[in-house]
Amino acid sequence: MMYNTLARYYDALVKDDEATKAYVDWIESFHPGKKMLELACGSGEITERLARVGHRLDALDLSADMVEQAKQKDPERLIGFSVRDMLDLTGLPMYEAVVCLCDSFNYLLEKQDVARFFEQVAGHIEAGGLFFFDTHALDRLDEFADEFNETGAFEDGVQYQWSIMAEDDFVYQDFAFYLADGSVVQEHHMQRVYAPRFLEEALEPWFDIVSVTKDFDVEGIAAGEKYFFVCKRKRG
Ligand SMILES: C[S@@+](CC[C@H](N)C(=O)[O-])C[C@H]1O[C@@H](n2cnc3c(N)ncnc32)[C@H](O)[C@@H]1O
Repeated sequence: MMYNTLARYYDALVKDDEATKAYVDWIESFHPGKKMLELACGSGEITERLARVGHRLDALDLSADMVEQAKQKDPERLIGFSVRDMLDLTGLPMYEAVVCLCDSFNYLLEKQDVARFFEQVAGHIEAGGLFFFDTHALDRLDEFADEFNETGAFEDGVQYQWSIMAEDDFVYQDFAFYLADGSVVQEHHMQRVYAPRFLEEALEPWFDIVSVTKDFDVEGIAAGEKYFFVCKRKRG
């Protein structure tokens, strides 16, 4: 399983207020409607900020531990959280906008999952509504061809090792947590990086692409870390 022990330390490892603000500013700049669904909301940093700027949000994630972290940031229970797979949105209502942020899309490991995912999302966005997602750029595969390693300790004394490496189309992340009782917990994560042309073709039956930028603000498919897609649900 992924995002179990990591859920407890996710914010300590990657929380970035500036990036959270940049995501929300990016989304708001396209004036999406208020009724929004967030897929793979994780520990809810962006979720909570989207609620704060006035969105009526449902938010889901496959990891119960991540959803538990996210709920703690919503004491007023403004957000409708659930634990579920973003590949099956059966029973959810229609939304004015759907978002899937911060590499979450890259956890879809098969091309047929990507097609199914876009179809599921399309089935829950009103015609003309917007779908926002980001994805690792192909450059990430080169960046992590040389293994990245980080070690450190959290405030509670738990130590960790984090390594990232890429092979073929895949990015592998391995975490080891050295707990106070002497046990070691490991998590292995796998993400896939897709060519932008494949994504454009997979989106085409359901969406018009409104904007693709590299790292938020550079137009088009340029070299960089991530691509940011804004797609409009086709009518009919
Ligand atoms: C890198 S985290 C990003 C979390 C959050 N979007 C953020 O902005 O920090 C990826 C998240 O995707 C979730 N995830 C992966 N596959 C999923 C799936 N099939 N359905 C729902 N959530 C999924 C993981 O549980 C994890 O919380």
